Amino acid sequence: MDKIRIKGGRPLRGKIPISGAKNAALKLMAASLLTDEVLALSNVPQLADIATMANLLGQHGVSIGLNGSNATPGHTMELRAATITNVTAPYELVRKMRASIMVLGPLVARCHAAKVSLPGGCAIGTRPVDLHIAALERMGAEITLDDGYINASAPKGLRGAEIVFPIVTVTGTENAMMAATLAKGETLIVNAAREPEVADLAHCLVAMGAEIDGIGTDRLRIVGKDRLHGASHTIIPDRIEAGTFVMAVAMTDGDVELIGARQEHIQSACDVLARAGVAVEKTGQGLRVCRSGVLRGVDVTTEPFPGFPTDLQAQMMTLMCVAEGASMITETIFENRFMHVPELARMGADITVHGSSAMVRGVPKLKGAPVMATDLRASGSLVLAGLAAEGETTLSRIYHLDRGYERLEEKLRACGAEIERIRG
Ligand code: EPZ
Repeated sequence: MDKIRIKGGRPLRGKIPISGAKNAALKLMAASLLTDEVLALSNVPQLADIATMANLLGQHGVSIGLNGSNATPGHTMELRAATITNVTAPYELVRKMRASIMVLGPLVARCHAAKVSLPGGCAIGTRPVDLHIAALERMGAEITLDDGYINASAPKGLRGAEIVFPIVTVTGTENAMMAATLAKGETLIVNAAREPEVADLAHCLVAMGAEIDGIGTDRLRIVGKDRLHGASHTIIPDRIEAGTFVMAVAMTDGDVELIGARQEHIQSACDVLARAGVAVEKTGQGLRVCRSGVLRGVDVTTEPFPGFPTDLQAQMMTLMCVAEGASMITETIFENRFMHVPELARMGADITVHGSSAMVRGVPKLKGAPVMATDLRASGSLVLAGLAAEGETTLSRIYHLDRGYERLEEKLRACGAEIERIRG
């Protein structure tokens, strides 16, 4: 298996282009199931998860054309579900990527039936999909769970309903919203997720002819249509990639412009970072990041958008490892999202976990060491640690990284990092 080797201690300086958002692209691809016309997506990131979703949609009968090359920033993908030849999402594909659950709502809405493997848990938590199922049942789907599959049917099609989510769920909101676009009547989603990726999907659905009010708020009103038509849509920049790089620049005391990054998508993180001594300023092309003084420990609690994103928690913890003072980091979204802690400890970090909180006491320097990636965002945090550490860090199991960070080594090398992929 491939590894990444980093020689730390070099400040990042220059420009980094931000790719299209993985967590928008995956749902936008699934939205192609809602129409028999072409959905053209641009700024598609080239990631393992995108390829997995393309394979899944392909076996449903979606034809997919991808153009662009590594040279062109962002790729254009044309998807067409002229006819859906298969409503089953098999375990062998779904187990590779939880976001496969995003075909459930569109399949039931368009084909009135779906058989989708339960995604199962993952490293960061059990990650049930009970709220997705409950939302579709509210819309009239009959759902049974047999042999690890969600069997859904709505012979007369879905009908509009009021759906109140007891907790904020990003993909739950997105599945319900996509299903509602073809339901008979009006659907109200209460306590909807407000992540920018949810709004991006909603804007695309409106371009496809859907009627959605309240985009960007926690109350979405959708009036169902008989059919949706094709559209073209440009995917928003990846705020988690951008936030990861903001922290990488702060870690290495560098100065970088993140091209395409949008501050309003990571405002809560920028507010926390400002208190920690990291300046993030808007420029004509994106965001400029550099330290504004001594790096200080600050407390952080993850929350649904617009709060501090759970997907930046590991990266923030890594930054706090080399700050002056202490930082209490509390994870409220997932039950097991501290697996980067033992790996950071191997590099000399001083972190004590108490349940869902971790107390980080800053140390002057981290020391390079062999470490192992455990999940996508934790592996990003270990790259950050390696960039700032004294000496050499090798990161194994980097297939986790390839799921969510496009051309990571290339982007960092262009800003002076000594980082290379060792083919294994
Ligand atoms: C999305 O996951 C993202 N993934 C995650 O990013 C992100 O961490 C998460 O939202 C929170 O922002 C994609 O968009 C593909 P949730 P999702 O449903 O939708 C519980 C990454 O690194 N819950 O908002 O699966 C759940 O267990 C990934 O890119 C239920 O109990 O997350 C969690 O505790 C990691 N029942 C909480 O809600 C359900 O039916 C929030 O989960 C659904 C969720």
